[in-house]
Amino acid sequence: MNRIITLDEFIIRRQKDFPFASGELSGLLRDIGVASKVINQEVNKAGLVSILGMNGSENASGEDVAKLDVFANDRMKDFLKTSGECAAIASEEEEGFIHIDQVEGKNSEYIVVFDPLDGSSNIDVNVSIGTIFAIFRRKSASTGPIEMSDFLQKGIEQVAAGYVLYGSSTMMVYTTGKGVNGFTLDPGIGEFCLSHPDMKIPQRGKYYSLNQGYYRSYSLGVQDYLRHCEKEGIGLRYIGSMVADIHRTLIKGGIFLYPETKDNPDGKLRLVYECNPMAFLVEQAGGIAITSNLTRIMEEEPTGLHQRKTIIIGSPDMVNKAAGFIESHIVEKEKNRASNVLSD
Ligand code: AHG
Ligand code: MN
Ligand code: MN
Repeated sequence: MNRIITLDEFIIRRQKDFPFASGELSGLLRDIGVASKVINQEVNKAGLVSILGMNGSENASGEDVAKLDVFANDRMKDFLKTSGECAAIASEEEEGFIHIDQVEGKNSEYIVVFDPLDGSSNIDVNVSIGTIFAIFRRKSASTGPIEMSDFLQKGIEQVAAGYVLYGSSTMMVYTTGKGVNGFTLDPGIGEFCLSHPDMKIPQRGKYYSLNQGYYRSYSLGVQDYLRHCEKEGIGLRYIGSMVADIHRTLIKGGIFLYPETKDNPDGKLRLVYECNPMAFLVEQAGGIAITSNLTRIMEEEPTGLHQRKTIIIGSPDMVNKAAGFIESHIVEKEKNRASNVLSD
């Protein structure tokens, strides 16, 4: 039996991948791992303690906040505030970013963005939920205050990204730009142990994943792709927690889409703390992550902490196929526009 490699050991071993690393990033990743273990404790007994249901407030995206959203947000803030490696944070559950005071007079150069609890609508029905995070190096001078521009960096500037999936087992999957590795929490020893080394997404998969209920409001290109999936016998799997749907897509191959809908013309998912971290992971595993305008997610210029962005992400063959259907309608529209101009 192979010796178990814990998350801490793996992070320290991999630190040599970053010759100038002073161990700050490693410390930050470890702190996020600990915070997720505390959140996991509460998630696992959510039905037993009064932590189900809504807490009666709305977040910056105008969505009802669940009690577990607040609990997870508070735990992430607690651990990042005392980490000493984090200069500021931004969260789905916070209007603006939060500056973190120096710990022992040390200037930290990293900032963290996170969705503390993804898939809130699934909390009360005991379906998998997760935490999503990404780490950036601050651009502003480390002696000065954090600026909003530190948080509005493109996805290609992410130093690390990952998620924790509170499912049939609890897993942490992350990348620092040198591949993707997955760790499963062993409750017996309370450690995340390497279980999915060097994850690679299959070229194609058996499932497509999106909210079929919005079919009528999807673009003609997306509708064509969905009809193609039906014709090819590609099954629909949609959990409604982005972390769980992306995890399945990473492991088994497939495609996840959240295109524009009538209610969400820019898509529902947030660029900074949902789309970009997942795009970094999937690209590092050999997949593709684009918007429904066929632009690369990680090249998008963020304009706000809670900005929404359409997303089509997953196995290369399937994302390229979907892009082909969408592109043919873009070309069609261009041709019609050109002929209208000529006939005017
Ligand atoms: P959150 O719970 O952090 O607000 O995220 C929920 C998101 C995402 O997890 C999921 O993919 C999507 O909402 C599902 O949206 P629909 O219910 O509109 O399909
Ligand atoms: Mn979310
Ligand atoms: Mn959330």
